[in-house]
Amino acid sequence: MLIILDFGSQYSELIARRIRETQVYSEVLSYRTSAEKIRQLNPKGIILSGGPSSVYADHAPKCDPAIWELGIPVLGVCYGMQLMVQQLGGQVETAERGEYGKASLHIDDPTDLLTNVGDGSTMWMSHGDSVTRLPQGFEVLAHTDNTPSAAIANHDQGFYGVQFHPEVVHSVDGQALIRNFVYHICRCEPTWTTEAFVEEAIREVRAKVGTKRVLLALSGGVDSSTLAFLLHQAIGDQLTCMFIDQGFMRKGEPERLVELFDQQFHIKVEYVQARTRFLEKIKGITDPEEKRKRIGHEFIRVFEEESKRLGPFDYLAQGTLYPDVIESADTNVDPKTGERVAVKIKSHHNVGGLPKDLQFKLIEPLRKLFKDEVRNVGRSVGLPNEIVRRQPFPGPGLAIRILGEVTAERLNILRDADYIVREEIRNRGLYHDFWQAFAVLLPVRSVGVMGDQRTYAHPIVLRLVSSEDGMTADWSRPSYNLLEVISNRIVNEVDGVNRVVYDITSKPPGTIEWE
Ligand code: XMP
Repeated sequence: MLIILDFGSQYSELIARRIRETQVYSEVLSYRTSAEKIRQLNPKGIILSGGPSSVYADHAPKCDPAIWELGIPVLGVCYGMQLMVQQLGGQVETAERGEYGKASLHIDDPTDLLTNVGDGSTMWMSHGDSVTRLPQGFEVLAHTDNTPSAAIANHDQGFYGVQFHPEVVHSVDGQALIRNFVYHICRCEPTWTTEAFVEEAIREVRAKVGTKRVLLALSGGVDSSTLAFLLHQAIGDQLTCMFIDQGFMRKGEPERLVELFDQQFHIKVEYVQARTRFLEKIKGITDPEEKRKRIGHEFIRVFEEESKRLGPFDYLAQGTLYPDVIESADTNVDPKTGERVAVKIKSHHNVGGLPKDLQFKLIEPLRKLFKDEVRNVGRSVGLPNEIVRRQPFPGPGLAIRILGEVTAERLNILRDADYIVREEIRNRGLYHDFWQAFAVLLPVRSVGVMGDQRTYAHPIVLRLVSSEDGMTADWSRPSYNLLEVISNRIVNEVDGVNRVVYDITSKPPGTIEWE
């Protein structure tokens, strides 16, 4: 195992993922983790992440200096390298010219950390401070035009530093460097594989659950579906999957989900039809946060009632993933004051978001995994692409794509429009070209003309976006022909809609969903 100490970099998780791509397990821990705790975890290497601070700032995050005595190899990345230099007696100063963006790496020592990293290869830089004096025992491995110490090493101690970010895709040979650190310097073995994970997870679940019963709330998304498959392999019919149909899914989806699980996968699903209840609960509500809150509360209520009816259960299985449990430095920290700033944009409601005081013990077999690793596990246990590569769909579903009040009639309008969007995109083989592609219904009406009749009806917004992780997104540039066909079909086939508009806002400043 390798450990990443997080100093508040937006890339800490990415470093962890890059290491796992080398089939070595890695975890992100807060920079505050003591050297003693690290010693107990017995990692084969430590990576110090970048961070937004300057090592000389008043509240600059520092690691426990005792980590330099552990005898474990360390790689400092950007801020991590500067901290290493400072704590080991070298000097860091504000550079005359910071370096941001791509830079060519000139290699002075092509061995060891830089084996297979091309001389002149592009690396991604983002720093205002630079190392001006190396600590004793260190030497320069590479430089760039602006940065004399772009990669440094103390070979005897196994300490390495890079001023650039090898983890980002723009750093062309970045992964080669990471592999050198992982395999040659830390001497890790590639044991973190999907098959090994599945075997281990099944063994652990069996050992923990024994002959007891487990309840899983299935949403149809990749996390809960993968979990259902994994648990079914592990404990068979001791697992009960419950699917709550709140009435906000897309056209045909609840039926498809139940059919897939029941008939094709032979995993029994308890289908709970709760459409009217949910609609009643948000009747007359137009405020987006209030809508989300009410849907979330109602979900918990239905879940409690139904689990009593189907129970008793000893365990509740949750699809918690690694990014939910990372104990990292708070990235929302004001670097000047060290204060935590929490900015809530939207409250997410998920099947996983059940309150802690429910009378269940939890099992969370996916809690070590990143999303892409869950997909690999899903595939390896037999989940079809239809679920593994499904576009993200929010917990509150269509209810947050109907602006203003949600009514049965509006749900029908949006369902029909959304179906057309999906059908056209699928039929053209474009489904995977978009992170998400969907329709939004606006509560306003505009004038149109159909035949000789004046119409006064709702607009549909088309939202097609590309994104890596949903945190940022760009509006997609589909062909005019696709837009035209979708628009024509929606206006002609969906009653109550007489206009289609295309959303050309990226995130930020927009969000992907409209509520
Ligand atoms: P926004 O609208 O915040 O969405 O840009 C980012 C991503 O999150 C999805 N999303 C949700 N997912 N429960 C979820 O599971 C929610 O309540 C929720 N709200 C938004 C959204 O579809 C996008 O992929």
